[in-house]
Amino acid sequence: MADIAGLHAFSETPERDVARFFAGREAFLDHIKKACEGAAHTIAEGGKIISATRLFYGARGAGKTSLLTEFHVHAARGNFGTPAPVIVDLPSSQSLRREEDVILQIAEALGKDSLFRTTTHSDARVNADIPVIGGGGVTKGQVQNPPAATFFHLKQITKTLSPRRPILLCVDEIQNMNPEAKDIMDILQQGKHGLPIIPIYAGLGNSLNVIMRHGVSRPVSGYIHGVEALASTEAEAAVTAMLDRFKVDQSGADRDWPATLAQRADCWPQHLHNAMRALAMELIRRDVKGVLARVNPEAVFTHERRLRMLAHGWRMSEMISDHRELAARVMQRVVASTPTRSEVKQIIAVLHKTRSCTLTEGVSVNSFFNELLHQGLLQEFHEERADGTIVDVLRCPIPSLATFVMERGRVDSSLPLPELAAEPPLKEAPEEEGGDPYASPESKPPSYEDADPSKIS
Ligand SMILES: Nc1ncnc2c1ncn2[C@@H]1O[C@H](COP(=O)(O)OP(=O)(O)OP(=O)(O)O)[C@@H](O)[C@H]1O
Ligand SMILES: [Mg+2]
Repeated sequence: MADIAGLHAFSETPERDVARFFAGREAFLDHIKKACEGAAHTIAEGGKIISATRLFYGARGAGKTSLLTEFHVHAARGNFGTPAPVIVDLPSSQSLRREEDVILQIAEALGKDSLFRTTTHSDARVNADIPVIGGGGVTKGQVQNPPAATFFHLKQITKTLSPRRPILLCVDEIQNMNPEAKDIMDILQQGKHGLPIIPIYAGLGNSLNVIMRHGVSRPVSGYIHGVEALASTEAEAAVTAMLDRFKVDQSGADRDWPATLAQRADCWPQHLHNAMRALAMELIRRDVKGVLARVNPEAVFTHERRLRMLAHGWRMSEMISDHRELAARVMQRVVASTPTRSEVKQIIAVLHKTRSCTLTEGVSVNSFFNELLHQGLLQEFHEERADGTIVDVLRCPIPSLATFVMERGRVDSSLPLPELAAEPPLKEAPEEEGGDPYASPESKPPSYEDADPSKIS
């Protein structure tokens, strides 16, 4: 018997629920596993963890938050090595502003007991029963002003606990970072705290831009990962896991539902989740009762399309809506070829000269380009050319989104492609968006090579 109640609850989950049927991302999980092992090894050798920051960036719905959540599952299963890392989720990028807040979160994740392990602390006023960190609930041997928590205190605590446990410090939505977070982010990147902390940031496609705009040292080459669509086998595996989990009767179904949903969703995690919800909506009907062969495919597709269009609609910010045709023409060009960052900016600059695509006052080529990146209409991919060089090209990460934007801007493939100007690539002065962090040769984009644990010294 199918689990109708379970299917019902699943059909009503929000469109960005944490992945219940997590699939794929093995390379990322392996990368973190190696990072943990490398950190544990370095600590055992008495070394310091430096330049350990990782960045996962991707458009909305790519599965960044789900990936961070999956770290807990992997650590609990022992897949991140022994001892398992301590995982600390900072509620939002805003919490990187104060050292004490970061310390308190880590201390809490280490276990409440740790708050009271202060015997090694050198401050003579503090006796063994008084928490050094924080200050709430202090009674015995009261200290008037408990010292503010610092990385130094945390180090004392971790010494007496499990000194080799790496700490994964995960911060989501890093694109919203506060400028005041710079100092702590630099301390973390430079390993000045002497602790086994591996900072892991996740955020939208402009995250690296934002980090660099605030003057934070950027993660090293190979530690910056674009989160993209799933492979079709992975997307299909998620659907299969869902059908199995809800004990759906799959006998006699005349269609390969995992393949169908994966394809309709462009293997994009957010759309895939919605496609599974659409199927669940039909499976719970009284005349269907969890039997796949009784499902009306057209009804599933109608739900799925509605949810997908809604999700696309959310990406159409005011700036993009004000420049529908321009966005559509850029998308037309991006779909036809895979231009580089400066080529896309050039295309925008050239289109801007035509009347129907003019940028409105206050919107520059750079800011429009960044908006396309921010909303996930464009994503940067590192592509290896035949000669072995790696170039960064831009694509729309979701094919159906490109079609949506073109339809919205009334641009179809019969229109001639916007041409690149015969001029040299556009050079713009850095402006409100901080310019292009890849512009100078020394800040070339990192290659998409795998993590090299030896980089953790
Ligand atoms: N690896 C995965 N396997 C299966 N489903 C996934 C996977 N990753 C994410 N999903 C599903 O995709 C949807 C979007 O995921 P998630 O919220 O993690 O994306 P995000 O990148 O954090 O988006 P945003 O930028 O909007 O915060 C969720 O409903 C989730 O269930
Ligand atoms: Mg998220």
